[in-house]
Amino acid sequence: MDYIGIIGAMPEEVAQLIEQMEEKEMTEIAGMKFYDGKLWGKKAVVVKSGIGKVNMAACTQILAGTYKVEALINTGVAGGLYAPINIGDIVLSKDTLQHDMDATGFGYEPGVIPQMGQSTFYGDQYLIKKAKESCEEVNPDISVYVGRVVSGDQFISSDEKKKYLVEQFDGYCAEMEGAAMAQVAYLNDIPFVIIRAISDKADHSASMNYNDFEEQAIVHTIRLLRAMFAKI
Ligand code: ADE
Repeated sequence: MDYIGIIGAMPEEVAQLIEQMEEKEMTEIAGMKFYDGKLWGKKAVVVKSGIGKVNMAACTQILAGTYKVEALINTGVAGGLYAPINIGDIVLSKDTLQHDMDATGFGYEPGVIPQMGQSTFYGDQYLIKKAKESCEEVNPDISVYVGRVVSGDQFISSDEKKKYLVEQFDGYCAEMEGAAMAQVAYLNDIPFVIIRAISDKADHSASMNYNDFEEQAIVHTIRLLRAMFAKI
């Protein structure tokens, strides 16, 4: 994997990566700034997509079609769903789906994309393995989980919605972009992994915890990425 696309939804999620890039060239497409250069010795493009699935889908297609990256990584924060997961821990995408895809009125199960034949998209086994090993090496103080990332255009901050996402989808964490990257990666046949650090527990305390823990969560993902880049 010689050319890697890294996408974060928010400026804080990519700022340190862009800072650490060398020989970088910035090109603006669809209002997004693509930084193409070398990150820790490897060819990479780093970009902030903006929040939500539509921004992420547009951004991923540009990385696939214009830059022709060979692997895709979505990094950022997420709300923890699976009970044992603590704030600061990391979730890697075993697979991912859109929890707000709802054609139930049309006879489909929640989360199923009508007429697509596939609604969950699997993270690449090799990237997951390397991310997990790297995380265990450089972040020994936290736990790393491989589980389902559920995405939707919603910030999850209620106990009731959290319960629904766990019971209906067996979600490990909730965020707002990963499944969109995964679906576009699938359409373009590009391996991907989503790496999310838990900033809150996606319940009534979510918005308060999010602000307190976001920074620390990002420290863990940057450390992980750096170690992972040396292995892939
Ligand atoms: N990103 C971080 N925390 C989140 C939450 N609780 N819901 C959706 N996206 C998030």
